[in-house]
Amino acid sequence: MKDELDFTTFKNLVSRELDLRLDSYKLNRVERRVYSLMRRHDLTSLQECLHQIKKDSTFREAFIKHFTINTSEFYRNPTSFGYLEENVLPSLFQRLSKVNIWSAACSNGAEPYTVAIILEEQGISPQKYRILATDIDRFILDIAREGIYSSQSLLRLDKKLVKKYFTMVGEDQFQLNPEIKKLVQFKYQDLLKEEFTTGWDLIICRNFFIYLTKEGKETLTRRFASVLNKEGILFLGNTEFLMDPASFNMKKLAGSFYQKLS
Ligand SMILES: C[S@@+](CC[C@H](N)C(=O)[O-])C[C@H]1O[C@@H](n2cnc3c(N)ncnc32)[C@H](O)[C@@H]1O
Repeated sequence: MKDELDFTTFKNLVSRELDLRLDSYKLNRVERRVYSLMRRHDLTSLQECLHQIKKDSTFREAFIKHFTINTSEFYRNPTSFGYLEENVLPSLFQRLSKVNIWSAACSNGAEPYTVAIILEEQGISPQKYRILATDIDRFILDIAREGIYSSQSLLRLDKKLVKKYFTMVGEDQFQLNPEIKKLVQFKYQDLLKEEFTTGWDLIICRNFFIYLTKEGKETLTRRFASVLNKEGILFLGNTEFLMDPASFNMKKLAGSFYQKLS
């Protein structure tokens, strides 16, 4: 079928149809993902793809799912998680009687569960913190709640901790123990659209900024800064940096850790 739609028109129509803020994502990435999904479903035009999105709820779900990249693992980027473990968390718990932690764009849960394991290892009572983990992908949130991982996801976690907190339940399947699972609350949330709750001491948003346009990143940073408590920390991915932290009322602590000033 000949394409009567240009990509920008298609993107605007899909954004409306699916209620997604596709404008905040880098255009070439959105384009690549859409065309690869179309190839997979033998769709030859954007028109056809839009038609499919409108009439077929299974395809709609496949579209959203294909669009989100869920790569994650426990203790991803050990140097950064080491800094979190040895510096950021101890200083938060020294300063505060209750620490509110939000893992935004949490994917399969490896990230918030890593924090829960660290806190358990540090002997911090669960009454002293709350971990909320959110993502736009309902399918990956179900996987997170289930808490079963392959050995690949656990490669960077200390072997002793794997032994202590996971049970083998199948070939290359490791179930996270219930006492850690219950420390994290999972919730659906679109970071580009929905209101944020306030009062966070640590916001972890890693490997999500990379998909956003410059304006998308700035808007999100401003929104995170507005809901962080004074001296709260924003923990980004290893390739994600704030060019001018002061313009967001933040200062750089180390690596991709930023602290809200006032
Ligand atoms: C590469 S994963 C990052 C996972 C984890 N933070 C890490 O670094 O290991 C990116 C996640 O962003 C989620 N995502 C994409 N768009 C989103 C949006 N608008 N709101 C919330 N999450 C979104 C995807 O579903 C995916 O799980």
